[in-house]
Amino acid sequence: MPPPERGRNVNRRPPQRRRTPPPRTPDIPRRVAYDLLSAVRERGAYANLTLPGLLGNAGLDDRDAALATELSYGTVRWQGTLDAILAASLDRPLSELDPPVLDVLRLGAYQILHTRIPPYAAVAATVNLAGTVVGEGPARLVNAVLRKVTKRDLEAWIIQLTSPKRSDRTAETEIAELALRHAHPEWIVRAIAAALGPEIAELGQALAANNERPIVHLVARRIDRDELSAQVGGEPGPWSPYAVRIPGGSPHSFAEVRDRRAGVQDEGSQLMAIALAATLGGAGLPSGGSDNAGSNGWWLDLCAGPGGKAALLDLLAPDGVQILAADRAPHRSQLVAQTIRGERVDIGRVRVISADGLAPPWRDNFADRVLVDAPCSGLGALRRRPDARWRRTPQDVTDLVELQRGLLAAGLAAARSGGVVAYVTCSPHPAETVEIVEWALAHGGATALDARSALPDVPSLGPGPFVQLWPHRHGTDAMFLALLKVS
Ligand SMILES: C[S@@+](CC[C@H](N)C(=O)[O-])C[C@H]1O[C@@H](n2cnc3c(N)ncnc32)[C@H](O)[C@@H]1O
Repeated sequence: MPPPERGRNVNRRPPQRRRTPPPRTPDIPRRVAYDLLSAVRERGAYANLTLPGLLGNAGLDDRDAALATELSYGTVRWQGTLDAILAASLDRPLSELDPPVLDVLRLGAYQILHTRIPPYAAVAATVNLAGTVVGEGPARLVNAVLRKVTKRDLEAWIIQLTSPKRSDRTAETEIAELALRHAHPEWIVRAIAAALGPEIAELGQALAANNERPIVHLVARRIDRDELSAQVGGEPGPWSPYAVRIPGGSPHSFAEVRDRRAGVQDEGSQLMAIALAATLGGAGLPSGGSDNAGSNGWWLDLCAGPGGKAALLDLLAPDGVQILAADRAPHRSQLVAQTIRGERVDIGRVRVISADGLAPPWRDNFADRVLVDAPCSGLGALRRRPDARWRRTPQDVTDLVELQRGLLAAGLAAARSGGVVAYVTCSPHPAETVEIVEWALAHGGATALDARSALPDVPSLGPGPFVQLWPHRHGTDAMFLALLKVS
């Protein structure tokens, strides 16, 4: 027979003496950062597209939203370096950790090594987060590992993890150290080194610039640039006469952006359209005369979506020119029309179509100017996409080469004799830039113009004849430009 209820309570401790842990108070900015890391890991979400929604749902004030943004983007961006430090602080491989525990550890290590949050507070806040998202057992592990991380600052960790003796250094150990110091995969460090070529001494600066907070660039399309600058509290961009740089905040809060008198566009991207338009006359380029004979003919934008450069070409092309803007993806073509329309009811002289540039509906030799803004790895915009460097692989670049060659060949075929084709990428990777153009030139039928002459006011564009912009030199994305004149 079971003992009476009363008897079962005899040996129990009084409730006030139970050793239950205090309830965890949720720390919303860190929870938002953790949710972002989970989304990137579990469903391959893009950090820059996902965070605004998480911030909106959390209803954070500006200060907490800034903290959540700093913690999430910073942790994603520095992942490779944080993992190396965590691996050295743990008695088992990182791969044996539950992925959510690793996310929490990365978030904690980022706060300890990269923020002004005092290390003890960073550990306490992260252990608290661990208690709410992965449980009390893993929280103890998080506490132990993060305490080891606090034993050194970032520089001391980097020295600890890299070859200590200068005499042991090889080119490969230098690459490995730069990769660790600036949180880039080694294959991207090698690609940027190759793109810098004779300016290799700038490699550290080029990598460091990819970790800086990107400034938002606007383009003044149907509004005076100085007026836009005053309205949004920005600064005129140094290179493009249409550019305004704003320190932060959401550009879509500005009426000028919402009604499309202005748009969000990196100043480097603006320069690509400006350079192609400059081949019509100025800038010391071998144009004029018969080259301009068809200037009331067609300009073709072969990869136009979402339309930033097409909209600028529309502003810059002389009267009489018609613009054909094509993109293979129908929804991207629709975006082109929206970008160009702005406040207007129609899109005037721009015709937007959905078409595969590799199987084009237009005839050969019809265009005076062609823009081939090719799909690329995006390694030139790592500042803006914190997770991209860890998501991309060398195979992505290999896979893109055939498409890039095909699109440049299609662009050259579409241009008339004497016409100019601009080949543009938002990547400095030589396999996507110089090697594509050299492949095309080797087939004959076109010669390279000195593209630097199309941007006479922009310094340090490289050894030529191509243009390579850099975040650390120009404050723009690392855009590449070649201008090819068709024979
Ligand atoms: C770098 S984006 C172009 C950006 C655009 N020029 C701008 O400034 O807004 C490359 C575009 O190429 C398009 N694309 C990819 N393959 C294509 C193809 N075979 N033919 C035409 N467009 C293609 C993609 O849909 C994408 O919109």
